[in-house]
Amino acid sequence: MAQDKYLWWQKGIIYQIYPRSFQDSNGDGVGDLKGIITRLDYLKWLGVNAVWISPIYPSPMADFGYDISDYCGIHTLFGNMADFDQLLTEVHSRDMKLILDLVPNHTSDQHPWFLESRSSKDNPKRDWYIWRDAKEDGSEPNNWLSVFGGSGWEWDEKTQQYYYHAFLKEQPDLNWRNPEVQKAMFDVMHFWLDKGVDGFRVDVMWHMVKDDQLRDNPPNPNYKQHESTYEQLIPAFSTDQPEVHDLVEKMRDITNSYEERVLIGEIYLPIHRLVTYYGHNNNGAHLPFNFMLINIDWDAEHIKSKVDEYEGALPEGGWPNWVIGNHDQPRITSRVGTSQAKVAGMLLLTLRGTPTMYYGDELGMRDVPIPPDEVQDPQGLNMPDKDLSRDPARTPMQWDDSENAGFTSGKPWLRIADSYRKRNVKVQQEDEESMLLYYRKLITLRQKEPALHVGDYVPVQAKPPLLAYIRQHENKRILIVLNLSHKPCVFRPQYQNYKGTIVLSTAPERENRKVEGNISLSGDEGIVVALE
Ligand code: GLC
Repeated sequence: MAQDKYLWWQKGIIYQIYPRSFQDSNGDGVGDLKGIITRLDYLKWLGVNAVWISPIYPSPMADFGYDISDYCGIHTLFGNMADFDQLLTEVHSRDMKLILDLVPNHTSDQHPWFLESRSSKDNPKRDWYIWRDAKEDGSEPNNWLSVFGGSGWEWDEKTQQYYYHAFLKEQPDLNWRNPEVQKAMFDVMHFWLDKGVDGFRVDVMWHMVKDDQLRDNPPNPNYKQHESTYEQLIPAFSTDQPEVHDLVEKMRDITNSYEERVLIGEIYLPIHRLVTYYGHNNNGAHLPFNFMLINIDWDAEHIKSKVDEYEGALPEGGWPNWVIGNHDQPRITSRVGTSQAKVAGMLLLTLRGTPTMYYGDELGMRDVPIPPDEVQDPQGLNMPDKDLSRDPARTPMQWDDSENAGFTSGKPWLRIADSYRKRNVKVQQEDEESMLLYYRKLITLRQKEPALHVGDYVPVQAKPPLLAYIRQHENKRILIVLNLSHKPCVFRPQYQNYKGTIVLSTAPERENRKVEGNISLSGDEGIVVALE
């Protein structure tokens, strides 16, 4: 395939913005669309191609925007439709793309659809949600649990039935077996695609269809006490049902009826289940999000085996992708430590497939400890003893060393890292050794080298704690060697003598050095070598 056959979402880099925390423009302490617009030049400078924004729609904010009460509007906190239109124009004028969050599995309990549905048993929208009678003894229709703790069923006094909610009780699940629901949500997709948005990240795609008999989920024999109570059961009947693929296919058809739009699925499943979301003959999601680097033990053996398993499991024509952090997960720098964070960035940006970055990771932002009385995330509040709050990874972007890190002139909705005066965009832009300039170099290199953005992936044998692979395209071959430990190690190639020049290293002083044969690496070093 000639290189120009690759689409933007294959060659490019996606950057996730959590809109509450990126840039505030009106001093209310919450980020907004106008704020994002003022930071687009930064994103262009950084070198990313597409921006995915978490939900910006009208919402009671029980789950910070993932509980939507109007799919075709803009929450006043974030601005208005004119601001959105301007954002889209400004993104496009910089030759970038805009991806929206689509949340089809559930609405807010304040959405007019649900208000109607719960108004009476014979309301025409009753069947838009999942309503069931109690068992004889009054208990829930089955044992399904909510991801955010407690039962997945909520009793409705007025109509004397339970409704199902995979997340909060304020987020009732839609009944996707109902064709009217499908039509309503497909209309939403058209609304935004007609405006010119470049695609969707589909929230909890694997949850959308449930077992038609609503059978009990089995207990999880591997459940550990510290885990979320949701993990007590295996969601065998409440998620990942075969019929979901018909829906994804329909969503893909809609996406395909516009030019070069992308359909991304949020799916937390093991590799062999995940890849089924590419669909038969690739008629499913373009990019079923691959969260493997988020869940994995940070050592060379685990990573190598999983990367290779993923490469091997991808269907023909299925384009890979990698995610290293998002608004639901601890930040990468906190997970692997500051010293490994550059290595992690190199892995994300040199593996084969579309990388998705999470705002602030390019600064090495860490999870910010939030005192118990300031916790806002419902997952944290509902299971207080389990430390599951997602707030620490959602704190405001650190732009400069002025008060509130340049994020807001008011009181930020979530506290800002104490370290922001040192760790911020402005300071790091001036510091050759900073995480930010390192990320920018890495991104620039990836963008320039077809071997890195579209090349093949060739595993290379290396002794742990080293991880090595080659990316190659036409005659160009690039060797990547990552030291996943803090101690110096020697890469001793077997079978082959690699000769080339280090074009990028986590330790800049090593750049432009020629290497051949055995290559020694410092602790926590990663190198990119252009082979001769
Ligand atoms: C997804 C979102 C998460 C949200 C949940 C319910 O996992 O990423 O933030 O809480 O869905 O919508």
